Amino acid sequence: MFTSTTFAIPKLASTPRHIAIIMDGNGRWATQRKLPRIAGHKKGVNVVRTMAQACIERGVEYLTLFAFSSENWRRPPDEVAFLMRLFSSALKRELTQLDANQICLKIVGDLSQFDDRTRSYITAAEERTAHHRRLVLTIAANYGGRWDILQAMRQLISSHPRDVNQLAEDDLARHLAMAYAPEPDLFIRTGGEQRVSNFLLWQLAYTELYFTDIFWPDFSAESLDQAITAYRTRERRFGQTSAQLASTVAPTS
Ligand code: IPE
Ligand code: IPE
Ligand code: MG
Repeated sequence: MFTSTTFAIPKLASTPRHIAIIMDGNGRWATQRKLPRIAGHKKGVNVVRTMAQACIERGVEYLTLFAFSSENWRRPPDEVAFLMRLFSSALKRELTQLDANQICLKIVGDLSQFDDRTRSYITAAEERTAHHRRLVLTIAANYGGRWDILQAMRQLISSHPRDVNQLAEDDLARHLAMAYAPEPDLFIRTGGEQRVSNFLLWQLAYTELYFTDIFWPDFSAESLDQAITAYRTRERRFGQTSAQLASTVAPTS
């Protein structure tokens, strides 16, 4: 398990180790082109492939993508149905390539809402790629930060019936859906909105936030480089002062 940023200051590198992205703007991208919204979602899948490759080339170890939120069920039923179909067909289609590229695939979220077939694809894909470490690619599907904290709390209470005053942050964090990854260094949201929309609420405590107006279907390796360049200008203080940081070792690449 990784040490939390509120417990200890992590060793930093100039390239973010973990990037988390809210892939937003698919619908507007399509509407601007007088296409149905689903055309934007389809195009967005190609960008996922490009980003995974770009992250490998840049030495990013973990890439986490928000594909469907707990609140996206509020959308029109035909769009929800399309997104579900797109998710399982992309999963099926991409698996061989993910495996060949040594990418470990993880799906996080409340999977109880998915049908049995999709759930078995998910398990099979995770098992087949579990040993890969060139990139850990996490897709957050039917995920919500509040759902995650609540499910972690349920596990904690059932596994640890001990004095509540003895509980530490880590006791909860070890049950979060992404306990296998360090907290994100860089959060990117495409599509112009500047909000977190119930993504990784716990893990974003000390993540650098980056917002761009580019719609997800137009997001490219160059756009990723711009985000990483912006990240490199940030001073991550974790509660300390600038002077304290200056007296510690400079980041490695
Ligand atoms: C993000 O794009 C994809 C999902 C939420 C599934 P949107 O569908 O939210 O696109 P906009 O924000 O309406 O343009
Ligand atoms: C956030 O985007 C969720 C995903 C990208 C999967 P939304 O488009 O659903 O967010 P809001 O509704 O604008 O906050
Ligand atoms: Mg949106």
